[in-house]
Amino acid sequence: MQRHEHEPFKQEIYRPIGIGTAHGKVILMGEHSVVYDFPAIALPLPAANVTVRLEQLDMKNHYIDSQIYTGPLHHAPNELNNLKKAINLTLSSGQIADARLRIWIDSNIPIGRGMGSSAAVTVALVRAMCHYFNLGLSDSQLAFIVNQAEVIAHDQTSGLDTLLVSTDSPIIYRKSASPVPIQFNMPATLVVADSGMEGETKLAVSKVGQLLEKTPRFVTNAMQSIGDYVGQALVAIKQNNIHDLGRLMTYNHYYLNQLGVSNPTIDYLVNRAWMSDALGAKLTGGGLGGCVIALARDYRHGQFIQAELLQAGAVDSWLLDLNTM
Ligand code: PMV
Repeated sequence: MQRHEHEPFKQEIYRPIGIGTAHGKVILMGEHSVVYDFPAIALPLPAANVTVRLEQLDMKNHYIDSQIYTGPLHHAPNELNNLKKAINLTLSSGQIADARLRIWIDSNIPIGRGMGSSAAVTVALVRAMCHYFNLGLSDSQLAFIVNQAEVIAHDQTSGLDTLLVSTDSPIIYRKSASPVPIQFNMPATLVVADSGMEGETKLAVSKVGQLLEKTPRFVTNAMQSIGDYVGQALVAIKQNNIHDLGRLMTYNHYYLNQLGVSNPTIDYLVNRAWMSDALGAKLTGGGLGGCVIALARDYRHGQFIQAELLQAGAVDSWLLDLNTM
């Protein structure tokens, strides 16, 4: 029998679900110096992304299905405390009592590589809840909830990850100023490669802090130089000068290496990118592991560098077309 235009579908076949998405991020230049209030440039990475689906069920507890844990949320490991917090804050901001959620998290953003995995999962979860319960949260309300949740799980957050995983725009980020969106129209491709080692952002930041106490002049000069390179990179981006941008990325890596936040695995991948004719290459994020990035002339060159890095031991890789940002 044909359904009449005005007839609704039968109720029993309709099970509402909420869906939310978010993506990863990379720091193009300026990590570590950003801690000392110099600017950093960060980019959204749509190729690494997370989708959260959820539905409401008649259960006693929230139930979660993720890469790192599947089961009732109240038994989940501490690293998922951010999700508990985000659920509670979102439910209370929507004045929703007594909802029990079944949540599926599907992410290809590796954990602990400085790609914003934790913030991205939390953003996608809050978005899925907003979708399900029809809540109209503003961007700043979303950021508030996610940052509160991130603080619970990770003791501190600059808010950079939350911002980058929830917007489509590259950002100039500085501690003492509001973030500024920038546009890229560069005929170049950024290769992101995961070394397979967890990054150690906290340790790396404290290592740099100790080095600052021991050799203040060296570290202050290094920070100043990285800050200058970031300034020059912004000019190169405005002028679509991919060669200058690549060169400045490489200089940036040199200083990160001098500050002691690279390691042999990362340096090896950076070298392999240079040997593959990358315009520039460096570590990205906190360092002591994590990911490297390399600037390629175009998409095909990006695919070539990507294959070389995977062959050199990288465990995963993503491409970012800088023409479309
Ligand atoms: O590892 P990530 O992506 O969280 O980046 C850390 C960036 C640092 O400058 C090293 C630390 C910070 O809080 O800005």
